[in-house]
Amino acid sequence: MKNNKIIIFDTTLRDGEQSPGASMNTEEKIQIALQLQKLGVDVIEAGFAAASPGDFDAISRIAEAVSKSRVCSLARALEKDIKAAGEAVAKAKMNRIHTFIATSSIHMEYKLKMTPEQVIKKAVEAVQYAKTFCEDVEFSCEDAGRSDVSFMKEILDAVINAGATTLNIPDTVGYRLPTEMGAIIKSLSDFVGERAIISVHNHNDLGLAVANSLACIENGARQVECTINGLGERAGNAALEEIVMALRTRKDHFSGYETNINIKEIYPTSKLVSSITGIEPQPNKAIVGKNAFSHESGIHQDGVLKHTQTYEIMSAKDIGLDKNSIVLGKHSGRHAFKDKLCTLGYELKDEEINEAFDRFKILADQKKEIFDDDLRALVAEEITKI
Ligand code: KIV
Ligand code: ZN
Repeated sequence: MKNNKIIIFDTTLRDGEQSPGASMNTEEKIQIALQLQKLGVDVIEAGFAAASPGDFDAISRIAEAVSKSRVCSLARALEKDIKAAGEAVAKAKMNRIHTFIATSSIHMEYKLKMTPEQVIKKAVEAVQYAKTFCEDVEFSCEDAGRSDVSFMKEILDAVINAGATTLNIPDTVGYRLPTEMGAIIKSLSDFVGERAIISVHNHNDLGLAVANSLACIENGARQVECTINGLGERAGNAALEEIVMALRTRKDHFSGYETNINIKEIYPTSKLVSSITGIEPQPNKAIVGKNAFSHESGIHQDGVLKHTQTYEIMSAKDIGLDKNSIVLGKHSGRHAFKDKLCTLGYELKDEEINEAFDRFKILADQKKEIFDDDLRALVAEEITKI
């Protein structure tokens, strides 16, 4: 029986930074790493040490600053990359080297120009060399989503024997569907058994990164790689906040699965990442988008004002937001309108409400958003201030 602790591996500072326009300086990366530690992330992938002197410096400084999360650097299966990664994470209380090589036919033939046998040899050498720096070594089959499962079993067997402790199966190009990804993980997980932890790393090219990650968890993955706000190459990576809140909100389905995430830190972390990168999540982004806990239509507003769970499956407070919001617009109803006026300090008689509400509807047809000052102007003539 597998242990049901899900290790949260955050790669905002590595894959997330690969979002065009998301590059961060060392001080900004340290600030985010400290917040990820506060969030309760188990492993922080702090960067790709061989990529640049700046990345090396940021990883080394994070390694010194962070003590409760494991600090990891990415490295290709190359001696110079692994040496840089090993040196960069050397001072961390808990460290990891994450080395990878591609295992799909298209990558081996066209990108690496190597035979499968050469790829296995390179992977084994990389893991053995990484072990001279760190006890904890993760190996990834790049483009695993399009790799042959029997070949992956062969290479995974070889890297386990070389000392890899976590085996990552990335859907690098976001190609797989949840049932397919689940089946791949089931087959690999049954094959590997207790010899290593199976990890997944799903990209979002078809908008399936989170669904795929959840399917992988159900089929034996015990580490998920993800990013804050789903940042990452192209359409991004699986969003940490969505995976964690799905596991928590659907505990009935994901019974027994636990993470170390302190969910009250989700919103502050999302805000910090968007303010540093300048990349705001889309308004309708699940969990952390501006509209995720906002209600505009009259039917929904009336329901939520009577009982929040009529239209909310989780509470804004859970993720560290002050409260949900009732946004007044042309679909809003009398109940929300009256409630909003009360919060602004106005008390209306029934006939005043009716009249003000009619005028509000005319205004709402002309404006996308109704601000508090619009309401004050609207009702100024006919209401009695408390
Ligand atoms: O998407 C990917 O395959 C990666 C690996 C380097 C883990 O980011
Ligand atoms: Zn990736």
